[in-house]
Amino acid sequence: MTEPTVRELYLSPPSQAAPGTRVCGWVRSIRDSKNFAFIALSDGTHQQTLQVVAQADKLDNYKDIARQNVGAAICVTGSLVPTPERKQPFELQADSIELIGTSRADYPLQKKGHSMEFLRTIAHLRPRTNTFGAVFRIRSLAAQLVHAFFHERGFVYVHTPIITTSDAEGAGEMFRVTTLDPEHPPLDEQGRVDSSQDFFGKPASLTVSGQLNVEAFCLAMRNCYTFGPTFRAEKSYTPRHAAEFWMIEPEIAFATLKENMDLAEDFVRAITRGIMDEAKDDLEFLNKMIDNDLIARLTNVADSTFARVTYTDAIDILANSGVAFEYPIHWGVDLQTEHERYLTEKYFKRPAFVYNYPKDIKAFYMRQNDDGKTVAAADLLAPGVGELIGGSQREERIDALTNRMKELGMPVEPYKWYIDLREYGTAPHAGFGLGFERLIMYLTGMSNIRDVLPFPRTTGSAEF
Ligand code: 4AD
Ligand code: MG
Repeated sequence: MTEPTVRELYLSPPSQAAPGTRVCGWVRSIRDSKNFAFIALSDGTHQQTLQVVAQADKLDNYKDIARQNVGAAICVTGSLVPTPERKQPFELQADSIELIGTSRADYPLQKKGHSMEFLRTIAHLRPRTNTFGAVFRIRSLAAQLVHAFFHERGFVYVHTPIITTSDAEGAGEMFRVTTLDPEHPPLDEQGRVDSSQDFFGKPASLTVSGQLNVEAFCLAMRNCYTFGPTFRAEKSYTPRHAAEFWMIEPEIAFATLKENMDLAEDFVRAITRGIMDEAKDDLEFLNKMIDNDLIARLTNVADSTFARVTYTDAIDILANSGVAFEYPIHWGVDLQTEHERYLTEKYFKRPAFVYNYPKDIKAFYMRQNDDGKTVAAADLLAPGVGELIGGSQREERIDALTNRMKELGMPVEPYKWYIDLREYGTAPHAGFGLGFERLIMYLTGMSNIRDVLPFPRTTGSAEF
């Protein structure tokens, strides 16, 4: 007896009848015609369902099977038969059907289409739909491709901590981690919460980025990366921000911003190609149902070189665009989504790096350029999602780093070890952070970050 998945069946369809084939899965639909029934069976491994033919004269429990509700779990054993003359290439003619778990008539995923909003309310069931099956298979594949990309290039994978006592972005958007009694926290002489009595002996938080830690490894082992969950307590209701998201952060030593952009470009192209090679069925489905431009856009990205433009030139392009942006544009402002999308979708029509940003809108660790006004930062903007990557060359000069931290009024103590790295064999290095969910949005055409996270955590919502 063989026990293939539905995916395996579609990858190598039978050329002749194969008796003793057993397939388990969940009922998508049942069409009952008294003496026989067609069951569409899904096991979540593939876009297509398997057609099961149940015949009353062959199955003792035919009546019981034929009245099952959508969503029931069954295992079918029978003969897998090629059916080249029919809509589906083969069918499983059942010799026996085991009822593993019944479903109910009120199963929320009936045949009709559902809105994304509704499906978010049943996040425990939505992986059973075609759309979310495709999205989460692509998400899984993309994660494997990320590791393969770095592994092939000799990068060391570093597991940076989730709990931290320093704010890697210096932006104050951290979730506190504490075991103090919220009703009666211990107080110091000034009446403030006494963190020295907390679990870690000082204030601790969930990390916003593994970058600072990965820099330490990069200055020991050259090319490294981290890939893990990160957390941001920014009150944000946009379709592109989540409170818990995954980030891929490579860091390369003896390298500048240029090599950093080269790496980011190779990376995005390689993952795009990998998904196009290995997830054809799912992409075709998403192209048909979710975003008709998806495959054309990915093909364009896989084949193009990315644009590179300085922030100053980008401001000129936007100022001369003739577009009435909601947020007016002038040198010194941060780019908003509408600006990012204009640049990548309308002007360049491909992914575009914007680099050398004003230092006042960027993080403390970025390397100052000689003009005294800008830092060696580069964001990658991508069609459909806007900012996909944020990266920079790091400030490796100790005086420049500590002066900048002083200017920004940052405490030195939590960053002592980070500054230390500039004392002991400092070297130019650079890296970037790519928001994994933004990548999945771009790869699937899904327009809301809530629909590429298995169980999204966003402002005001942490269900499931
Ligand atoms: O630009 P960010 O804040 O950069 C950093 O965190 C650096 N430490 C990265 C580095 O240089 N190692 O974030 C990097 C990327 C963004 O470009 C975006 O794709 C994603 O992370 N991102 C978010 N994704 C989902 N929800 C959020 N709230 C996000 N904030 C950032
Ligand atoms: Mg950024």
